[in-house]
Amino acid sequence: MDTTAGSVITVGLGGRSYPIHFGVDILGNLPRLAREAGLGGRAVIVTNETVGPLYCSAVVEVLEQGGIRTASLLLPDGEEHKHLGTIQRIIDFLLEQGADRRTWLVALGGGVIGDMVGFAAAVFLRGVPFVQVPTTLLAQVDSSVGGKTGVNHPSGKNLIGAFHQPRFVLVDVATLMTLPEREYLGGFAEVLKYGIVLDGTFFDYIEEHQRQILDRDRETLLQLTRRCCELKAMVVERDEREEGMRAVLNYGHTLGHAVEALTAYRSYTHGEAVAMGMVAATRVSAHFGCCSTAEAERVRRIIVASGLADRLPPFSRDEYRRAILKDKKMKEGALTLVLNEGIGGFRLQPVTDIDAILDVCGIGG
Ligand code: NAD
Ligand code: GLY
Repeated sequence: MDTTAGSVITVGLGGRSYPIHFGVDILGNLPRLAREAGLGGRAVIVTNETVGPLYCSAVVEVLEQGGIRTASLLLPDGEEHKHLGTIQRIIDFLLEQGADRRTWLVALGGGVIGDMVGFAAAVFLRGVPFVQVPTTLLAQVDSSVGGKTGVNHPSGKNLIGAFHQPRFVLVDVATLMTLPEREYLGGFAEVLKYGIVLDGTFFDYIEEHQRQILDRDRETLLQLTRRCCELKAMVVERDEREEGMRAVLNYGHTLGHAVEALTAYRSYTHGEAVAMGMVAATRVSAHFGCCSTAEAERVRRIIVASGLADRLPPFSRDEYRRAILKDKKMKEGALTLVLNEGIGGFRLQPVTDIDAILDVCGIGG
């Protein structure tokens, strides 16, 4: 396997700091990176039935060749399996394998696998090390970095979880070549998010390189994933446990989550719903005087040009209001909305009059 040298950045969290490695065809670097991270000679790879057949044997092979004993667990694919029952299954497997505190876990897959494996690692024996090998664009630019781990509860998404940082993250953009188009575009929505609220120059870059990004050009993907992770690292370093500014990463998610909930998580991917939510967020931002209508239109244009939908599905105002009120981001009757300040900045805006917001978004009575 080729191990093309890539680049590396650090998430600076004192004693829990860790590197994120970027490259093309770099799965072969895993044993060296594990040694550098002080990880021992025993790894359990957890993946799913879609990603496993594509990449698991390559990961097993390089680790075994590097002197690391491995065992692998293939879980069923899908958000519907992201619950405590699957965590129990991972822990049962670890016990069957005689795993101990030095055993480390490898999360090989998208955000669902990363969140579950991270959570299992957080609670097994009160915490064992894990590494993230994200294989979706969303996981490479967002979920694999920052230590949020967890599972869903029947009452809502990600209601059970822990902060547990990985020992390192390996972003191999070559794995994105097998990702279905809808999943890729959903990840692109999260990429846009970073440009809209954190870095206007990066937004310019995305606009200028839209064709290469949509064509999954490897060099462009290296730049893109790295910049997103730099921005995410900067946010996590300032506010690891989301007590303040980490909420910026929820830009577009208030209405995005409402759309996902109203369609029972079946009609849209998370990123597709976030894209609609971001277009709505630009309208609210323009309403509060945070951005111009021209800037809001610039965001809408790139979303539509990439093949993502910009219009919220036609549920009633009551349905949207109820979905928003259920959101776990509601605190004491107020919702903190993330608005974009121009392109590349943000403001956290407490809002109590949800109806006024729904009016601005064109969601009628
Ligand atoms: P996912 O993990 O379900 O992956 C999407 C689909 O792509 C799945 O069918 C998967 O098997 C498949 N897949 C993954 N990699 C592939 C590849 N290289 N080739 C072919 N198929 C591949 O979805 P996702 O969008 O990666 O993650 C969504 C999850 O991430 C949600 O559960 C969400 O709550 C969570 N999330 C967590 C954070 C965080 O900070 N922890 C942030 C954002 C989202
Ligand atoms: N994607 C949200 C966060 O990591 O905070």
